[in-house]
Amino acid sequence: MGPIAVVGGTGHLGFGLAARWARAGRRVIIGSRQAAKAEEAAQQARALAGEGDIRGAANAEAAAAAEIVVLTIPFAAQAAILEDLRPAVRAKVVVDTTVPLRQYAPPHLESIPAGSAAAQTQALLPEARVIAAFHTVSQTLVRRIDEPLEGDVLVCGDDPAAKAAVGDLAAALGMRALDAGGLEQAVTLERLAALVIGLNQRYRRKAIGVRFTGM
Ligand SMILES: NC(=O)c1ccc[n+]([C@@H]2O[C@H](COP(=O)([O-])OP(=O)(O)OC[C@H]3O[C@@H](n4cnc5c(N)ncnc54)[C@H](OP(=O)(O)O)[C@@H]3O)[C@@H](O)[C@H]2O)c1
Repeated sequence: MGPIAVVGGTGHLGFGLAARWARAGRRVIIGSRQAAKAEEAAQQARALAGEGDIRGAANAEAAAAAEIVVLTIPFAAQAAILEDLRPAVRAKVVVDTTVPLRQYAPPHLESIPAGSAAAQTQALLPEARVIAAFHTVSQTLVRRIDEPLEGDVLVCGDDPAAKAAVGDLAAALGMRALDAGGLEQAVTLERLAALVIGLNQRYRRKAIGVRFTGM
């Protein structure tokens, strides 16, 4: 299996995912708009993971060196960063985790002409195999690396092999991946995440997740 680039892996969610995937034996490259910041985060992620192959690089360089590119950046940064990544990703699997909030509390989503943040990613990276996943995975739990993760990762996309590869990423976190349909369903994942954020706020929690029964 080739390396995973985590674009924005210096941030809350991406940093934790990078450390967990490295601990699970995957090669990881943390991406940042600044290479030096990425290197520093990689050093910290190696310390957190205790083991593993993690390095840092500027976002485009990280994406170019990776087999799978995971986007953990704010929606507001999407267009600029994807423009930078476009030549590096081509036919690669690109995993969009974006919950496009225009307001955090209470959570309100942006209105996106393409239908969802993930659909907009696909429009901006037409050759990439865009998959939407990890929207309802709490960064707070992900960063508590010594505690097992539980629950489901809903995965949307139009490329079965790409979806399977993202299912492997969920399994490496100890979570169950569920095939949640085509990329047109990503809007539901993004809305579900906004709903989960609202639950966290009303019940004063930080780590509510999702698990489907009857599977
Ligand atoms: N937090 C969660 O629990 C959670 C759960 C599921 C999904 N998500 C989604 O994951 C994405 C990242 O969330 P997060 O909480 O990890 O975000 P974050 O920590 O605020 O930001 C992640 C990284 O994005 C980069 N970035 C690029 N442009 C930016 C800009 N204009 N302003 C701020 N940062 C910018 C920064 O890296 P550099 O400065 O190094 O470039 C930053 O470290 C979001 O789309 C979010 O909806 C989050």
